[in-house]
Amino acid sequence: MEEKIVYFEEPGAENTGDTLRLALERARARGINKIILASTRGDTARQAAAAWAGSGVKMVVVPHQYGFMAGQRFPPELVEELRGQGHAVHFGTMLFHTERLFGTDTPRVMANLLRTFCQGMKVCVEIILMAADGGHVATGEEVVVVSGTRWGADTAVVALAAPSTRLGDLHITEIICKPLQTKQGRPPQIPPPEKMD
Ligand SMILES: Cc1cc2nc3c(=O)[nH]c(=O)nc-3n(C[C@H](O)[C@H](O)[C@H](O)COP(=O)(O)O)c2cc1C
Repeated sequence: MEEKIVYFEEPGAENTGDTLRLALERARARGINKIILASTRGDTARQAAAAWAGSGVKMVVVPHQYGFMAGQRFPPELVEELRGQGHAVHFGTMLFHTERLFGTDTPRVMANLLRTFCQGMKVCVEIILMAADGGHVATGEEVVVVSGTRWGADTAVVALAAPSTRLGDLHITEIICKPLQTKQGRPPQIPPPEKMD
């Protein structure tokens, strides 16, 4: 099969409108009506709720967990507003940010490996697991997932969801859009070390 992937030249929130449009288009094409979406301060959730109003899409909005970095920034009144519109807002444990709770760096390494695709790929995997752990999506349920680079949205995928207890059942089946690189600008060119014979 052939399918379109949109690559944004730069990561960031300026790609939010395009990402929301592409995510909805692909959800419609696949008959998917549930979209999992990362939103820290509520801006992206608000924009998505307006962009997808009347489409039949039910969002599972996943903000940061309580106690993470600057604390909870998702507005409480927006939680009520979104739930009133039939969406879910799920505050769960961020599985890649365990602060060595189990004495291992594995979650951080997993996160960094996923970030080699882009920041959003790490977030997509993390919020699928969080949403499934919270009972908002079933194992094997096909969903669209939307995330970004710190603010807004620039990454969207189609996935078969699974909870953190069944990581092997999670599949990213399609990439809808992503930024070309994980950070703004190209990395500095560092010459390879001289060959030692
Ligand atoms: C659980 C969670 C983890 C996130 N992790 C990262 C991350 O590792 N790197 C990153 O650039 N953005 C990360 N984000 C940001 C999101 O991908 C997205 O851009 C942001 O939540 C949108 O928030 P806004 O509604 O305030 O625009 C994370 C967000 C959430 C909710």
